[in-house]
Amino acid sequence: MIKAHDLAFEYTKKFKEIRKDRQNSICLLGQPGCGKTHLLMAVSNNLIQRGVEVIYFPWVEGWTEISEDFKMMPERVRRLEHAQVLFLDDVYKGREEPTKTQREQFFAIVNYRYMEKLPMLISSERTISEMCQFDEAVGSRINEMCRDYKAIINRNMELNLRLK
Ligand SMILES: Nc1ncnc2c1ncn2[C@@H]1O[C@H](COP(=O)(O)OP(=O)(O)OP(=O)(O)O)[C@@H](O)[C@H]1O
Ligand SMILES: [Mg+2]
Repeated sequence: MIKAHDLAFEYTKKFKEIRKDRQNSICLLGQPGCGKTHLLMAVSNNLIQRGVEVIYFPWVEGWTEISEDFKMMPERVRRLEHAQVLFLDDVYKGREEPTKTQREQFFAIVNYRYMEKLPMLISSERTISEMCQFDEAVGSRINEMCRDYKAIINRNMELNLRLK
């Protein structure tokens, strides 16, 4: 957790320098309740204060909203593709398998951002290899973009701050 904190701090400091690189994203993965969202929210607040646009996409609620109105879907997905920075919170949370819509649209979003080198802040309970079991194209792109800023907090219930 300390390493994840230091990584988030380092990422924030280096952001301006690396934002146009392929390795311009950060992911905090693993144990629930250990502060992944908290840290990436702090990164987001810092970037916003420096005039960077950050769009927040909480996985479960975000897809519910997108799926509620199919006519609006292309526009909503487009915003997620084009945001200066996209904060994807709790990726692949919930269902055991992503839906067909999630699969297709999520690949489109990640691939667009990969091609255009647009940064992402990612939190997830899943590891990269678990993500790859859902979609290797997505998992491997995330892996490459987060190569320099990736923290995996091993499962250990004692690290769940909500239980403390
Ligand atoms: N550094 C911290 N200092 C104090 N409280 C913290 C800190 N980090 C996280 N918390 C608190 O601990 C709780 C869990 O944090 P958070 O929601 O960020 O965890 P998470 O890893 O995103 O969990 P999940 O995987 O379930 O989404 C929250 O109530 C949060 O406010
Ligand atoms: Mg969280």
